Amino acid sequence: MKNTKIIVSNKAFRKYSGSLAVTLVDEQKNISSFLDKQIKRQIKKVLELGDFSGKKGESLLLYPSSSGIKGTVPAERLLLVGLGDSGESKRAALFENLRSSGGVIAQTAKKNKAADIMIALPDYLSSLSCNGAEQIVEGVLLGDYQFVKYKKNRKPDEEYSGIKKITVLSQKNLSGVRRAVKRAQYVSEAALSARDMANEPGNNWTPQDFVDFAKQIAGQSSLRCKILNRDQMKKVGMGGILAVSQGTAVPPKLVILEHVPQRYSKTILLVGKGLTFDSGGISIKPSAGMEDMKYDMCGGAAVLSTMQALAVEKPDVKVVAIVPSSENLSGSMAVKPGDVITHYNGITSEVVNTDAEGRLILADALAYGIKKYKPDCVVDLATLTGAVIISLGHHRTGLMSNDDRLAEKLSESGALCGEPLWRLPLGEEYSKQIESDVADIKNVGGREGGSITAAAYLEKFVGDTPWAHLDIAGTAWDFTKKTYIPKGPSGIGVRTLIDFIRKWKKTV
Ligand code: BES
Ligand code: MN
Ligand code: ZN
Repeated sequence: MKNTKIIVSNKAFRKYSGSLAVTLVDEQKNISSFLDKQIKRQIKKVLELGDFSGKKGESLLLYPSSSGIKGTVPAERLLLVGLGDSGESKRAALFENLRSSGGVIAQTAKKNKAADIMIALPDYLSSLSCNGAEQIVEGVLLGDYQFVKYKKNRKPDEEYSGIKKITVLSQKNLSGVRRAVKRAQYVSEAALSARDMANEPGNNWTPQDFVDFAKQIAGQSSLRCKILNRDQMKKVGMGGILAVSQGTAVPPKLVILEHVPQRYSKTILLVGKGLTFDSGGISIKPSAGMEDMKYDMCGGAAVLSTMQALAVEKPDVKVVAIVPSSENLSGSMAVKPGDVITHYNGITSEVVNTDAEGRLILADALAYGIKKYKPDCVVDLATLTGAVIISLGHHRTGLMSNDDRLAEKLSESGALCGEPLWRLPLGEEYSKQIESDVADIKNVGGREGGSITAAAYLEKFVGDTPWAHLDIAGTAWDFTKKTYIPKGPSGIGVRTLIDFIRKWKKTV
């Protein structure tokens, strides 16, 4: 993993002589007050000319040495980034603008191969803690990402190995800014770790790789790791995961990571779908685009990466993450349409479509986690249905929940993190669609309301525990175009979960 060094300093702008100095200007044309007079004069001139107006996404590169401000800015380049509306009443929008500016900074650094950058914080955002340092740095780190591991013959822009050092310039509250920046760093690293796992091809990210990752982070922290292999799953009766893994030679795993504080009163359970490749099984998928199904493990990647960040943050709530992981292939022992399986909690299910495998593995994991850990709430993340892309596009994650307060809290966190959720209903009518003639339930409920009937299946396994299901099939990759989310897997869910967990302990 790339380790970007971040320094917080109150030195003058003119002391920095690296390759890229950055300052943010908003639509209201505010300029950070602590900049040198000559730089401010130069920026005002550019604003007067109308070449730059502080709009979101806008940027302008100046070359101080050839524009008469040499001496006051020894940096090779001075980048003005438009922050857009800096209105502080709409916090979620402002946070998004700040992250978006961070993304523009990362893109410009990449284009100019700048490895050492300096950012002057927008001190006119006075009501915002640390003037948005956390969101800006998050945007830079999330935007400064590429996965070129398997590129032997690299194009020139793939040779750039990213930002090595960021100097954050602030005149006030240096210790607060340092804390904010540190938080941005481990949270972003967790999201990038989820992207890395997703980017790995199916032959290099198998259930065993989830096991290795979990063991590795447990080895370096106070997290506890537990693994259930196939024999143990057989012993406890996890008929769903066992059925899905029948068609592949790759053994399934159930990966558990626990964060257990010395003193705690609440427990949160996270469950993530870890299908390392989904061919559909006997109900095989069309071959066009099937390669994307290596991403069917993004829910699992999100919850384990969240634990990586919690190992640093150490919230005083117990958090348990469970990832049921398998491939879904169509080998000669594969589960067949019409087969009946028995889940961990004894519910029987008719497997009508072997491509609706996510709910089968999640059902066992949810029932097992709830029985074993008795959590106060459960959140699952899964690339569960193509139907959610039809309803919400690639712009929002589908949220289904049996608890209004939990749904509300997750929605708030999602909005603040730029990972918006949209709630869909649950209800008897939908549950009726998954009634089976031969077993307790069946694993498909028809095309109509496909995301909701998938959730209705999961609902059978959570009992009265407050539970929320996040269908990330539309947002785990191909997510809304954002400057800080390069093409490919987005790492969605990690930042929302961390924010949610941080606040949950305070409110319950
Ligand atoms: N992993 C897929 C869902 C998916 C599809 C995610 C497209 C991202 C993009 C899931 O296992 C699946 O195949 N779901 C089926 C369910 C159907 C058979 C009821 C689907 O959505 O078509
Ligand atoms: Mn499937
Ligand atoms: Zn799947």
